[in-house]
Amino acid sequence: MLKSSKKKVILITGNLGYIGVELSKYIKKADKNLFLIGFDTGFFLKDSIQKKKIQNKYIDYQIYSDLRDLKHIELKKFNIDTIIHLAAISNDPMGNFFTKPTRQINTIYTKKFINWAIKNSVKRFVFASSCSVYGFSSKVCNENSRTNPLTEYARSKLEIEKHLKKKVNKNFKAVSLRFSTACGASKMLRLDLVLNDFVASAISTKEIKLLSDGNALRPLIDVYDMCQTLIWASKLKLKHFLCLNTGNDNMNYKIVELAYLVKKFLPFSKISINHKNFDNRSYKVGFSKLKRLYKDYNKMKNIKYSVKNLIKILKTYEFKDKNFRKSNLMRLMSLRSQIKKKKLSKNLRILNDQRYYNY
Ligand SMILES: NC(=O)c1ccc[n+]([C@@H]2O[C@H](COP(=O)([O-])OP(=O)(O)OC[C@H]3O[C@@H](n4cnc5c(N)ncnc54)[C@H](O)[C@@H]3O)[C@@H](O)[C@H]2O)c1
Repeated sequence: MLKSSKKKVILITGNLGYIGVELSKYIKKADKNLFLIGFDTGFFLKDSIQKKKIQNKYIDYQIYSDLRDLKHIELKKFNIDTIIHLAAISNDPMGNFFTKPTRQINTIYTKKFINWAIKNSVKRFVFASSCSVYGFSSKVCNENSRTNPLTEYARSKLEIEKHLKKKVNKNFKAVSLRFSTACGASKMLRLDLVLNDFVASAISTKEIKLLSDGNALRPLIDVYDMCQTLIWASKLKLKHFLCLNTGNDNMNYKIVELAYLVKKFLPFSKISINHKNFDNRSYKVGFSKLKRLYKDYNKMKNIKYSVKNLIKILKTYEFKDKNFRKSNLMRLMSLRSQIKKKKLSKNLRILNDQRYYNY
């Protein structure tokens, strides 16, 4: 066991992604006495909006590795208290395109990782789940509503929740935060999220292009609040397992409403709607359980905050790319381009790279 400190040790997987870089900053700022370990393949390390390789300076010890290689990792030397598990193939388009590696990473190896955590006396597992487990629903979904995962990605989230529920005991507790769709600024900005896409599109093309009729309902949450709720969940008093819709009742929007909201801030932009396309992933989510438990529920950010910060970050980095939907700021595009350049295998294995071994 590494006697590095008497500090509480938290392992954040996926710490080099959109949420992970921001979470590392907020969690360390909130408690300087934490020892933070980062664990990430670094798939998107070179895709930051700043056009330079991202450094995560809040992490005390970074491991570049793949969850699928867990057996090689010397994590055992740390006395890990809590794991915040963000590492995943992180949306539906990637899950649909890379079905096999998504199943491996998000489901099979995440289950093994949980089993490993239990064997190694980790006390708490905080899991980044998703409201997409509700699929299409015309009713307001709460945590007891019927789930209806429509994609490999959504199915993976539900399977892990079930696995956690089975595995918890008095020594191993777990929280699953079913997050709304993320939005807002991050140093590892991604533009394949609906609000981020609208703002980027309005700035670069002066057009907000809806790929569907815009009637689908989607709950949103700013990255800031994702980080704050993850931090809260890492400390929350728990019985065994807790599953929570994580977002805010004021942040359930129709896609078309979001477009008009963005237009208010960027009034020169034209809205175009694809009336022929219907998005079957539509759900309204209720957050009354979170409201009851989370004392900062009423302080959660609204959509204006997210839009303003997105405009700010895109303008700071002089974002102009009209073809951004084909760029590396879209997670799927980044992975496909890395495969083309032979940096990644089709199974999303890093090729010819020393990142794994230089820690
Ligand atoms: N962004 C959202 O809208 C949203 C909503 C709900 C839930 N979530 C969940 O939150 C988590 C983080 O999302 P994000 O937006 O930061 O995604 P992201 O794609 O930006 O980050 C994921 C990180 O995981 C790493 N990773 C992927 N596969 C790995 C593997 N096999 N081994 C080690 N590291 C690996 C990637 O390199 C990346 O840095 C994901 O689990 C995602 O499903 C995200």
